[in-house]
Amino acid sequence: MKKVLTGLQPTGEITLGNYIGAIKPMTKLQDEYDSYLFVADMHSITVAQNPKELRNNIKKLLALYLACGIDPNKNTIYIQSENEYHTNISWLLECTTYFGELSRMTQFKDKSKKNANFSCGLFTYPVLMAADILAYDIDYVPVGIDQKQHVELTRDIADRFNKKYGDTFKLPEPLISESGTKIMDLTDPIHKMSKSGDNEKGIIRMLDEPEVIRKKIMGAVTDSEATVKFDMENKSGVSNLMNIYSAITGKTNEEIEKEFENCNYGEFKRSVADVVVAEISAIQEKYYKIINGNELDEILDKGINITRKIAKEKYEDMKNKMGLGR
Ligand code: AMP
Ligand code: TRP
Repeated sequence: MKKVLTGLQPTGEITLGNYIGAIKPMTKLQDEYDSYLFVADMHSITVAQNPKELRNNIKKLLALYLACGIDPNKNTIYIQSENEYHTNISWLLECTTYFGELSRMTQFKDKSKKNANFSCGLFTYPVLMAADILAYDIDYVPVGIDQKQHVELTRDIADRFNKKYGDTFKLPEPLISESGTKIMDLTDPIHKMSKSGDNEKGIIRMLDEPEVIRKKIMGAVTDSEATVKFDMENKSGVSNLMNIYSAITGKTNEEIEKEFENCNYGEFKRSVADVVVAEISAIQEKYYKIINGNELDEILDKGINITRKIAKEKYEDMKNKMGLGR
């Protein structure tokens, strides 16, 4: 069985964009693949975090995974920092990665511009991501387009290691969600809806109250044309709402255009709000049961036992091939 793996950082409360772009696709992939899903808490500390908030966000994210339909019987679910072999492997890989390669990573260039005192971890972040993937001989890595460069670097590092020390790693492929599933900010629809965006009105959070979600959708930026038609370039606001509606209902753009042919934007937005609120309310109901229950610990214990064994074996193999230790 082929393997897929992905992780999300526990930074801020996840959005409808994360759900549609990253979690919902995993709920489909879990039926076909041996699936690994983790919380990338070690990646999150590459920028400053409040320890109390971080711990809280880790648990929230895990509960949301399950509430969103990630099945613990079909996925190995774990917390990155509980498996020390990720960082052990990462160090060995750092020594087979060039400074120049990491300097070219666009996410590093963007993030390091924002704060002149950035950490070394922000720079080596992609190598830890490579370790997350290479430890498990993963075939596919479902990520958003912003992470594609990191998966490509992972392939380069793996290939170099294989050539230097002998066949050790499988070369993973990024699985990029279609452009249609990139959800934009409701108030600024040329930018992606981001966990860390500054304008809350443009961001739908998975734990927002239904009335809040409704208000945000009704206030979404549109245009003066008043026809529901897909045109990301000229009608980005309406097209974004169509993407959201499509991702939840499974309807195509043509079907949506037809459904709202004689409707104004207010009616269209109400329908979008109805489906989003219905989907998110069901998720929230499950979420509150999980966060107040104790099933998470058992799932995480199982996940960490499985992944530690696999990652340890890979680490020992690498160490041997590199001539480390006795
Ligand atoms: P991030 O929130 O940037 O840590 O991203 C976590 C995962 O969610 C990555 O696979 C992203 O590509 C995906 N993602 C984040 N924001 C969006 C969005 N607005 N639309 C679709 N996918 C997203
Ligand atoms: N860097 C990813 C993000 O910010 C999270 C991540 C860490 C990841 N390790 C990974 C994703 C390994 C896929 C595979 O979205």
